[in-house]
Amino acid sequence: MDFRGAHILSVEQFNREDVETVFSVADSMEPYAHRKRMTKVLDGAILGNMFFEPSTRTRVSFGCAFNLLGGDVRETTDVKASSISKGESLYDTARVISGYSDVIVMRHPHVGAVAEFAKASRVPVINGGDGPNEHPSQALLDLYTIRKELQSKQVEIDGMHIAMVGDLKHGRTVHSLSRLLKLYKKLKITLISPKELAMPEEIVSDLRSGGHEVIETEDMEEGLHDNDTVYLTRIQEERFTSKLEADIYRGRFRLNQAIYTRNCQPNTVIMHPLPRDSRADANELDNDLNQHPNLAIFRQTDNGVLVRMALFALILDVADKVDETSTEVGWYTEGRFD
Ligand code: NCD
Repeated sequence: MDFRGAHILSVEQFNREDVETVFSVADSMEPYAHRKRMTKVLDGAILGNMFFEPSTRTRVSFGCAFNLLGGDVRETTDVKASSISKGESLYDTARVISGYSDVIVMRHPHVGAVAEFAKASRVPVINGGDGPNEHPSQALLDLYTIRKELQSKQVEIDGMHIAMVGDLKHGRTVHSLSRLLKLYKKLKITLISPKELAMPEEIVSDLRSGGHEVIETEDMEEGLHDNDTVYLTRIQEERFTSKLEADIYRGRFRLNQAIYTRNCQPNTVIMHPLPRDSRADANELDNDLNQHPNLAIFRQTDNGVLVRMALFALILDVADKVDETSTEVGWYTEGRFD
């Protein structure tokens, strides 16, 4: 695809070469994200960071990524504090905000709302999550992390085994990641969830018709065997009709040190899009794994900045100009990102 001026709404837009392009630009962003060098390539540009659903890392990391390229960020974080609560349409909001910004990131609780917003926008729009549908930048950073983690263990993405665990019905990160994995070859994908929270049928059948082996199970310990990566998710309480309904599933699938050691191969990478629900009745990924060398969750969040910088650089067509405008950082702290 041509990234210049493009909206990023779904991972279905990408082919394998596009993904590789994002990853190689992301690699080149490391000195900037790691505060070794500074660039002003987006000096004067403004990101409109529009979050109409709760977010910490997606919002802040998009903002940091834009700042690290030299741009400025303006944001709204609360539907109640925005004119949407006065009945403003997505069309009007898009027309207005796209007059203020050069690129927009938007998160919205409704499936398709970001695409609708993008139709009216005069600048590129990145989907920061539209309800349970898609979260393309998260899938890219997840796959970028998987690639890096597996490379250090001499394993390729083609042919790898991955398990996804938890609320696969409502989790937009696993929807986007699965759709992105279709681009690779001969994967074994184990989907571990309560039957009621299974991965949407259309995603499963697409994976199967792409030649991948897909196993669906409610038996977590069995499903954990023989994986290169285990990707956990929280029960997406906000997508249920009531807290009571979410409570039925909360805490059913948990990974801790003992379960990991008993079932996983010693090399299995542990991932989670975060936030993990660390409340006692949920706790899908226990703190007793915090020091485990295969726990990649904070490498995922670090990688998110690189991948989001790459998306901005490609969309605004400055990827090859980043170094030209760069200088050393005087206050660099050695070892901070090791
Ligand atoms: C995820 C999301 O918002 O979909 N978080 C994130 O962006 N890293 C996952 C979640 O909320 O469970």
